[in-house]
Amino acid sequence: MDKPISGFSKLSKTQKIDWLIQEYFSNDSQVKEILTQYWNDDHKLQELHDGFSENTITNFYFPFGLAPNFLVDGKLVTIPMAIEESSVVAAASKAAKFWLKRGGFKTTIKGTVKSGQVHLTYEGDPQVMVDFFAFAKAELINSLSQINASMKKRGGGIIDLKLVDKNASMPGYYQLQATFETKDAMGANFINTTLEQIATKFRELSVSYEPFNGELPEVVMSILSNYVPECVVHVEVSCPIDEIGEVNGISGADFARKFTRAVEIATVEPYRAVTHNKGIMNGIDAVVIATGNDFRAVEAGVHAYAARDGQYRSLTNARVENDTFVFEADFPLALGTVGGLTSLHPLSKLALQILENPTAEQLMRYTAVCGLAQNFAALHSLVTTGIQAGHMKMHLVNMLEQIGATDPEKELLKKEYADKTPSFSSLKESLEKLRG
Ligand code: MEV
Repeated sequence: MDKPISGFSKLSKTQKIDWLIQEYFSNDSQVKEILTQYWNDDHKLQELHDGFSENTITNFYFPFGLAPNFLVDGKLVTIPMAIEESSVVAAASKAAKFWLKRGGFKTTIKGTVKSGQVHLTYEGDPQVMVDFFAFAKAELINSLSQINASMKKRGGGIIDLKLVDKNASMPGYYQLQATFETKDAMGANFINTTLEQIATKFRELSVSYEPFNGELPEVVMSILSNYVPECVVHVEVSCPIDEIGEVNGISGADFARKFTRAVEIATVEPYRAVTHNKGIMNGIDAVVIATGNDFRAVEAGVHAYAARDGQYRSLTNARVENDTFVFEADFPLALGTVGGLTSLHPLSKLALQILENPTAEQLMRYTAVCGLAQNFAALHSLVTTGIQAGHMKMHLVNMLEQIGATDPEKELLKKEYADKTPSFSSLKESLEKLRG
């Protein structure tokens, strides 16, 4: 492309595709075929999906799978997962099955409070700011009555509003820090609307507050925080060491010892912690995406939480205590089961139905369970057989699919490659031999 295009968003979908093909694919008609192949025949459904974003030209599919047999607080749950990485759903299911016979997953909600800030600059006398906030606080909160009404009916709303002096971090920096309970909504829109109203009222009141003496505070911006250290779910599994049994050829006691060591390594070593937590997010993101929640918000919040003491660490903990193996985690998860994509995307709606229409708190529990399960499955492999054995098995299945092997051929080739590393060329050769 050598010149910018103006008015791109106003072009029709077909015109956008034509432009793309002309600019980037030398008018290759195959590109149009690929893009249109993913359009949904149901026009209404396609329009719905187009409307989720802008400049949409097609849909990008993610596999939507199920991990059954999760025993969560005594209840059997099937967890829907949207993820493109092979072996993640299989690993979750494997961990679910392992803990099904050993008491299952136990969860506790530690808090559901979210926050947002109106960020301010004020260079004047700090005491004047403090006095102004004391004078304005009740009126700032009163100005929210309309915005707050429906959230209040559901048992939520603004909890508190505080002035925070941040001069120690940056001269002239203050915050109006608001805390919220948003019940079953993730609450981003509610929080942002509330903060902007607070900012508007704050400006309005400050103009006529004489002690400012013309030196008015400036509202820099108003926005929710995706850092949610007070919106946290605890999840754990535990069982007596002698109930672990032999794991991939090593004793339960050795498994627990090595497993605990692996978690400790991820606690002290950031290089390992990042990969360790990435594996946890394989499980968390898959549920967050399947249920129409914002995985970027969750990712940002979770990683910030992992670094809350100044060093990036493992999100999970493991220990052996009185001959019992305990594996647990706290995850900060701001999720919703109403509003946003959760009710708009037919598959998110279905995912929530599979989870029996959970409250946001229940969804926090299930998502946390999937995260812990994923970490358990990863470490289970890492400290015994290594990760590649399982990965390569899944990879082999994908490769066999891609070279067009039939089901009986797949079975024969899986046996042939049980202890060998496959490549496309070696597999094709084996398939040709098989077909004579
Ligand atoms: C791969 O997606 C995730 C793992 O690397 C996680 C881990 O190393 O713990 C297997």
